[in-house]
Amino acid sequence: MHSIRLTVNGREAEVEVSTHTLLVDVLREHLALRGTHVGCDTSQCGCCTVLLNGESVRSCAVLAVQAEDAQVTTVEGLANDGTLHPIQEAFSRCHGLQCGFCTPGMIMTTACLLATNPNPGESEIIEALEGNLCRCTGYVNIVASVQEASRLLRAA
Ligand code: FES
Ligand code: FES
Repeated sequence: MHSIRLTVNGREAEVEVSTHTLLVDVLREHLALRGTHVGCDTSQCGCCTVLLNGESVRSCAVLAVQAEDAQVTTVEGLANDGTLHPIQEAFSRCHGLQCGFCTPGMIMTTACLLATNPNPGESEIIEALEGNLCRCTGYVNIVASVQEASRLLRAA
């Protein structure tokens, strides 16, 4: 075991990990940030997506030691003083979720997409979300949510 430091949602944290501890376990178990979900544990569903130094990653496929000194953003880091982030607002408005299990990953992937491509076309949205699986919605409302999030963020 050894100690690593990382910054999660703007707060510095120091955690004791082994060389095989996963980032998702640091977030959920050490830091109690359970908005990051585990859907498969085999790097296929995208439910565990977070931002690592601004890039979307599957936190079940990242070792905690790889996140040493990094900036991590989880879905809990988006809302501001109880006000939903525009991406969260868009998913709510456009009914981009049903059970909500996939939603944190969808939202974090969207955050990464819109940071680099503020006005993506439908095919670019579908391509960006292809690693995020949803068992409920059929994806139509999710794509509409991303389009609405793009509109809200550009209008802000
Ligand atoms: S839990 Fe990480 S990709 Fe499914
Ligand atoms: S809303 Fe249920 S898995 Fe996507």
